[in-house]
Amino acid sequence: RTVGVVLAGGVGQRVGLNTPKQLVKIAGRTILEHTLALFDGAPEVDEIIVLMTPGFTDEVERIVARNGFRKVSKVLEGGENRTDTTWRALKALGTQECDVLLHDAVRPLLEPRIITECVEALKVYSAVDVAIPSSDTIVVAAPGPRGEIVRDIPDRSRLRRGQTPQCFRLSVIREAYERAFADPDFGRQPPTDDCGVVLRYLPDVPIYIVPGSEHNMKITHPVDVFIADKLFQLAAGSAPRHSPFAYREAMEGRTMVVFGGS
Ligand code: CTP
Repeated sequence: RTVGVVLAGGVGQRVGLNTPKQLVKIAGRTILEHTLALFDGAPEVDEIIVLMTPGFTDEVERIVARNGFRKVSKVLEGGENRTDTTWRALKALGTQECDVLLHDAVRPLLEPRIITECVEALKVYSAVDVAIPSSDTIVVAAPGPRGEIVRDIPDRSRLRRGQTPQCFRLSVIREAYERAFADPDFGRQPPTDDCGVVLRYLPDVPIYIVPGSEHNMKITHPVDVFIADKLFQLAAGSAPRHSPFAYREAMEGRTMVVFGGS
């Protein structure tokens, strides 16, 4: 059994609207709807649970009913931070072994290819991350006399940018989280993602990397809403409506026109 866990418990402070950013409409549908449609339509996924910002679970129930997402089995409230939300999801899943794909609700442009590769990888590995190379140089900053100074510039060829889904055998991620919550230091500096919890508390478990995609962006800042909207619009032109990955074809088509004309 493979369960998609859609993490939608945040408020989207950096986007800065009155409602959680996952309820913002892009190309005629909320970001959350795009993401749920992806998982509902993925043949590898048997069940979906959604963790939503407290106070907004009724809205998700309405979205599920309106779209007829038949794989959604539970809509629960998220926690104070992302790791609390994941922990709630893991508790709700019970103890029966399964594969879990933990995905940010605000990455609506995930390609089905990535879900397929993650599920395949879970046949061999019990922990799987999705990551892409970094085109920017990443610098490590440290406090300086006036503002920050560069402490280190790690070799870029070894750096990756982590995306989601992050995928695990349920027993493995559960054990990592049990250890984390037994550690009094965990709350002071929680990792920002679930692979970080496994890496810290089960360091012997190898975490396989499935190549992600530049398009699998996390809608974080206002400009990301704009970019994602444009990408969906491009898709709508030449591809089946709401197919969240087909915009690439559209983009390639447009690029050819531009180059052809110049
Ligand atoms: N998330 C969650 N529960 C939380 C916080 C975040 O499920 N308590 C989810 C978000 O809904 C999002 C994903 O984790 O789908 C990635 O988090 P991020 O982009 O940081 O979302 P927010 O916390 O909503 O954004 P911000 O930090 O700007 O408030």
